[in-house]
Amino acid sequence: MHNKLFKLFLPISVFTFSLFLLMNLGLIDLLRSSKLAFGLLISGFFTIGTIVFIMLSELKRFKYLNKRYEKILRFISNIEPTIDLKFFMDKVFDFALELTATRFGTICISTNDGNWEFISMKGYNKEFLKDIHFEEECFEHLKCENSEIKVIEDILQSSRIPKHIRKIIKSELKDTPKKSILGIFRHGKEVLGFITIDYMKEKVDFSSETLELLKLLLKISALFISAKKDYERRMIFQKEVIRSMIRIIELKDKYTKGHSERVANISVKIAKRLGLSAEDVDMVHWVGIIHDIGKVGIPDEILNKAMKLTKEEYEIVKKHPTLGEQVINQMSYLKDLAPIVRHHHEKWDGTGYPDGLKGKEIPLLSRILAVADAFDAMTSDRSYRKALSIEEALNEIKKNSGIQFDPEIVDAFLDVLSIYEEENLV
Ligand SMILES: [Fe+2]
Repeated sequence: MHNKLFKLFLPISVFTFSLFLLMNLGLIDLLRSSKLAFGLLISGFFTIGTIVFIMLSELKRFKYLNKRYEKILRFISNIEPTIDLKFFMDKVFDFALELTATRFGTICISTNDGNWEFISMKGYNKEFLKDIHFEEECFEHLKCENSEIKVIEDILQSSRIPKHIRKIIKSELKDTPKKSILGIFRHGKEVLGFITIDYMKEKVDFSSETLELLKLLLKISALFISAKKDYERRMIFQKEVIRSMIRIIELKDKYTKGHSERVANISVKIAKRLGLSAEDVDMVHWVGIIHDIGKVGIPDEILNKAMKLTKEEYEIVKKHPTLGEQVINQMSYLKDLAPIVRHHHEKWDGTGYPDGLKGKEIPLLSRILAVADAFDAMTSDRSYRKALSIEEALNEIKKNSGIQFDPEIVDAFLDVLSIYEEENLV
């Protein structure tokens, strides 16, 4: 638009400027009296107006781009590997649609198990697209695309989309896109997903700046998806290592077989009952699994001793929360769990170990763990005693509410137990 105006008015400006030059060269008197002078004056004003208009338009465009770049920068500065992938891609998607001024589009991502799924969409039937899972080879051709961005006419007729998928999508749509921007999330040679930005009308004008901004967004998103996948793969690996370590401990201490999983399950149910966030529920699950990992450093003969422990032996066993904290601190992805592991044997009245914390000084998840751990320990056989009945264990927990345990957590535990009793929680 600006270029067209510029091309139109440039000759007028040159013409006007030349005439003014002639006026200064002595033809001024002749021109002042003629109609040409009037014409010149008008065209002069017209030219100045045009230049001002172009300058204002350029300023407006500059401000618009500046705002967009600022938004992208703000977006980048808030990226962390812990952000949920779906949340991140929804943000990218909203941004891309705002940038391209349309209300139709999709984002499809390749998943860790080698499939593809639509995770963000607008203008299309969400439930329908969400249920479509494509196999890896469906989008093999994306690897051959030589550019990150392509503008495609009538994308559903294009061979870029596998025929059977085109058929499924077409059958659902009332109106099919006339023009689309196809953007690929690529990291190195790996294709991680794609975005389609669709227009239902043929005449659409994208500025080159819009496409450049979109490319930048694709690049940032690809880096994030790649880092996120890497993070998740490492986290899965570390969690598997931890699970294996726990199994080894449970082999060392034959009386605690399955204890960690049971503590994790009970803790999750208490956390849900307390209305904790999904993140906290996930944390308490993992801390339930790993809470006794420090027992790896306790001699087998103490762990499996058939008689009551001596004072010295008990002091050695009491080291397992701090040993556990040290192990967890080595695992970058589970570091947040280390203090919870450290304090899982603290008592509400301050008589626990290792730090003698009192009441709400003890981390909430440690307080949950304490109740779940005690209940499972009491209802399991130990080398030195037989398991208590559920009723006896419950009486012990109730008796120690406000002494050993946080009363609110005991109440939540009792609620959970009554709800799940019939489902064989215990
Ligand atoms: Fe423990």
